[in-house]
Amino acid sequence: MVARQDAVGNPADKPDLLMLVPLFSGMPPQLLGELARKLRPLRFRAGTAIFHADDVGSMLYIIIKGAVKIFIPSTDGREVVLAIHRAGDLFGEMSLLDDERRSASATTLEDTEMFSLSRQDFQDVLTRHPEAMRAIVRVLVRRLRLTNQSIQDAYLLDVPGRLARRLLILADEHGIDGEHGGVEIGLKVSQQDLASMIGASRVAVNKQLQAWRQKDIVDVRRQRVTILKPEELEHHFALSP
Ligand code: CMP
Repeated sequence: MVARQDAVGNPADKPDLLMLVPLFSGMPPQLLGELARKLRPLRFRAGTAIFHADDVGSMLYIIIKGAVKIFIPSTDGREVVLAIHRAGDLFGEMSLLDDERRSASATTLEDTEMFSLSRQDFQDVLTRHPEAMRAIVRVLVRRLRLTNQSIQDAYLLDVPGRLARRLLILADEHGIDGEHGGVEIGLKVSQQDLASMIGASRVAVNKQLQAWRQKDIVDVRRQRVTILKPEELEHHFALSP
């Protein structure tokens, strides 16, 4: 599917939005204004492919509103979901940094607004502003830590343990107050997406969620998961280092 893109307003009018993005938050206001003029505003409907793995990368994307799934598709139609990025997050930096192809595909999970920055402008920012370079290194190191954690989980935990850990990470990153108490993961994630995040089948994820639902450990409504008893979930991976 070709991405539908509409302008959503001039970022030069909204340099304060950039303060929300860790990459830019340390920059003086004058430089933020300069940068804002180089950003291109985009809006995508939910379910739109922004780019595909192996494409040539030409843009960095900064999410202002919405959510983007980063995944590696396989030839049999399955996916490995690497991450879900939200407002304040950036993606598409890897191929601009190493001049390789896109390492993964990106698709919107919700109606999403973002800014794009060209390869040249991104590289200029990093060259001219050491604090931006440090911010990018922090982003990459954090992703490496999360990836290490996922590898560890894949080796050491069973499906309930991996699912429990992933739900708590999602709640930590995207949690909002639940309608009926607890912490709701403020994101529509299908059971297939959850399965693709932890390397399990949808059936196994469904079975485990039902079991936890019956014990009031979680609540699941309209693809939204609410964690009611986090300590019960922690129990499933507490023995892992
Ligand atoms: P790029 O390789 O240009 O295109 C795919 C993007 O997905 C990549 O840049 C990163 O921004 C993002 N990405 C790839 N792997 C991960 C990961 N493990 N965690 C979070 N984001 C990732």
